[in-house]
Amino acid sequence: MQLHTASWPEVEAYLENSKGIIIPIGSTEQHGPNGLLGTDAICPEVMAREAGEAGGLMVGPTFNVGVAQHHLGFAGSMTLRPSTMIAAINDWIDSLHRHGFTRIYFLNGHGGNIATIQAAFAESYASWSLDADRCPYRLKLTNWWELSGVMDVCKSIFPVADGSHATASEISVTYYAYPDAVKTVEMSPKVAPVGSFTDAADYRKRFADGRIGSDPSGATAEKGEKIVAAAREALVREASAFFKR
Ligand code: NI
Repeated sequence: MQLHTASWPEVEAYLENSKGIIIPIGSTEQHGPNGLLGTDAICPEVMAREAGEAGGLMVGPTFNVGVAQHHLGFAGSMTLRPSTMIAAINDWIDSLHRHGFTRIYFLNGHGGNIATIQAAFAESYASWSLDADRCPYRLKLTNWWELSGVMDVCKSIFPVADGSHATASEISVTYYAYPDAVKTVEMSPKVAPVGSFTDAADYRKRFADGRIGSDPSGATAEKGEKIVAAAREALVREASAFFKR
């Protein structure tokens, strides 16, 4: 069940049986020459949507712009400042809690968001702890690639050069979600360099086409479907358990 296609009486009825909701959270940033700008938002979105349908779990709107200042050297990339994102996540939590959601499960698709989401949770809990009140809700962060069994599937499909940015796995998931958006591009070099970076200009200088350590030329919708199937199964199990705690 998706919040944005539900009516308010349907949400009210859902809340009589469950207090849990999954929020896909990602980023809008370059993903190399054949990757979609929305990759990090699309991956958790499609996994959450399928898990929501399979498990009867509520899925909220996708929080689709994250912390991606280091990608701003490439056209189309967008970012929130960490302070903006912390404030926005807290407003999302407070809005959902206002209606009785007490288990909020963030399924994340972007490594650059992790520190900021954790800081947002600390901010949220602090407002209760400073009042000496017990926080009435629980928040959970899971990166989709940490869902049980998913990395095993990714490694079996792409045993070499899956990489760490614009990975063959994540691009396959987006091709499964948007088969009309598949792009065929020759990679040069075939496997992108690895390393660290500081700001957007430094990133662009070190990683000319945006990829880090990956060769996503073998990405296909069929491979993406296998990754999503593994994620769906794990997410139904893990989110349902969290909702009951
Ligand atoms: Ni990504």
